[in-house]
Amino acid sequence: MTGIQFLRLMLRDPRIGAVTRSSPYVVEEVARAVPAGTRVLVEYGAGDGVVTQALLQRVAPDGQCVAVEQNAAFIPHLREIGDRRLSVIEGNVLDVSQDFSAHHISAPDVVVSNVPCTLLPFEDRDRLVRQTHAGLRVGGRLVMYQYSLLMRPLLRKYFSEVEMRFEPWNFPPYFVMIAIK
Ligand SMILES: C[S@@+](CC[C@H](N)C(=O)[O-])C[C@H]1O[C@@H](n2cnc3c(N)ncnc32)[C@H](O)[C@@H]1O
Repeated sequence: MTGIQFLRLMLRDPRIGAVTRSSPYVVEEVARAVPAGTRVLVEYGAGDGVVTQALLQRVAPDGQCVAVEQNAAFIPHLREIGDRRLSVIEGNVLDVSQDFSAHHISAPDVVVSNVPCTLLPFEDRDRLVRQTHAGLRVGGRLVMYQYSLLMRPLLRKYFSEVEMRFEPWNFPPYFVMIAIK
């Protein structure tokens, strides 16, 4: 997907929450936060799949990767990736995280989220972190990359350990938060 196409989509759907896809620096930083050989990975807000492709490189050969995306225009781009470990769900992450097993996902080892949380009301932000924490296997992690530190207190509320990284080479720059269960 071109930058112009991404921008046009965002103008029609503010829930996309970004003017462009993530930079290669962000893609690398986020992928680095995912342990190699991860068995079950769920990505929230996958967009056109620029991060998804890098995440697949961290998933075990017989592992499972699920990309969840609410905007229908991104779905064909995600399906085009064509990796047998990847399944694509067109839907809301609040519904999927409520019951992973209902979506044929066993307890994830890693959840990567780029859903723009500043656009969500507090109740939904809290629900997103609470449900994800409940669904992750013990020792699993939620990797959130966001433009602000808004989510840090909620991550600390539910997770035993929260690590911070900063990636300046993006517009706007990203905070990468790694929360361990
Ligand atoms: C900032 S874009 C990022 C896209 C991609 N991850 C990247 O790094 O370039 C955030 C994505 O989250 C999706 N999104 C927002 N709210 C969502 C929700 N409640 N459920 C599923 N996807 C959501 C948007 O449609 C958008 O594609």
